[in-house]
Amino acid sequence: MKATARAHPNIALVKYWGKRDERLILPHQSSLSVTLGPLSVTTTVEFHAQRGDDVVQINGTLARDGERARVVSVLKLVRREARAAGRRAPGLAHVTSAGDFPAAAGLASSAAAFAALAVAARVAAGLPRDVRAESVLARQGSGSACRSVQGGFVRWNRGARADGRDSYGEQLFDAGHWPDLRLLVGMVSREEKEVKSRDGMRNTVATSPYYPAWAKDAEVEVKRLVPLIRRRDLEAVGELSERNAWRMHATAFAARPPLCYLKPETLSVMQACGRLRKQGVGVWFTLDAGPNPVLLTSARDEARVAAVLEGHGAASVVRCSPGGDVVVS
Ligand code: PMV
Repeated sequence: MKATARAHPNIALVKYWGKRDERLILPHQSSLSVTLGPLSVTTTVEFHAQRGDDVVQINGTLARDGERARVVSVLKLVRREARAAGRRAPGLAHVTSAGDFPAAAGLASSAAAFAALAVAARVAAGLPRDVRAESVLARQGSGSACRSVQGGFVRWNRGARADGRDSYGEQLFDAGHWPDLRLLVGMVSREEKEVKSRDGMRNTVATSPYYPAWAKDAEVEVKRLVPLIRRRDLEAVGELSERNAWRMHATAFAARPPLCYLKPETLSVMQACGRLRKQGVGVWFTLDAGPNPVLLTSARDEARVAAVLEGHGAASVVRCSPGGDVVVS
């Protein structure tokens, strides 16, 4: 009863920001992301026959408190599913998870971690592979994780059901759809962010007067984005992604207390993007709930864009392109 899964993080082009159900992690709006290969998190789950406390190790250290509780809650759901499927309920679990990029710096490490956990845990429990069930499970660990079970371009459908069964990530285009696309992560800070996404979005939903407009607009933007990705229109995808990032952060700035994930270097990179475009370079930014911007560009302009990132305060640049589905071993 042991399985290992490897998943890529993802970067949202239309962001998820705000829950309509905190317990099941159901969003107010749909979102759309692309996975970031080659970055990955690998998670192994081993269930034992005996009962007892689950042991969770993340990046070499024992997880505690909230971090451990989130993993344990996913394991509980898997045991329940195994019982419902008529299998012997798995006992205590040993979970080890390690990523090859820094956690909690706005790079969605939790997305890759919970996608890998969901798949590894279900396989270890003897459940058959089922990407929708895996995505629904991953979502309950970390919302954006439902978009990392499958690779390439994935839409998280908002869904309408109260039980969340119709709120899952659905692959629209696989990792091979757009080989020329590059996503460059500028590491302007490796510190853990002060306000976790979970708390930041709760505060935004509760206090930002712009929140209803955000949720409505994001739903429309997801629909607009699909045909642009289909025809691999970098300029149109870049423009839409950039304005969606501005809108998410503007909604968060308007919360009480205000929420600002940008560092001076972040803004400097964002402004440099605009200047580069005037010089004919096809580059646009997006930004999750952290200080590290992700630049969308093409293979042709990759080196030039990386140099600009480094010139504006990025200590390093991680070069990515769309990554594949979760891999089980
Ligand atoms: O899934 P969480 O709780 O890590 O929230 C992710 C929120 C953003 O990264 C800012 C946006 C997104 O859609 O990934």
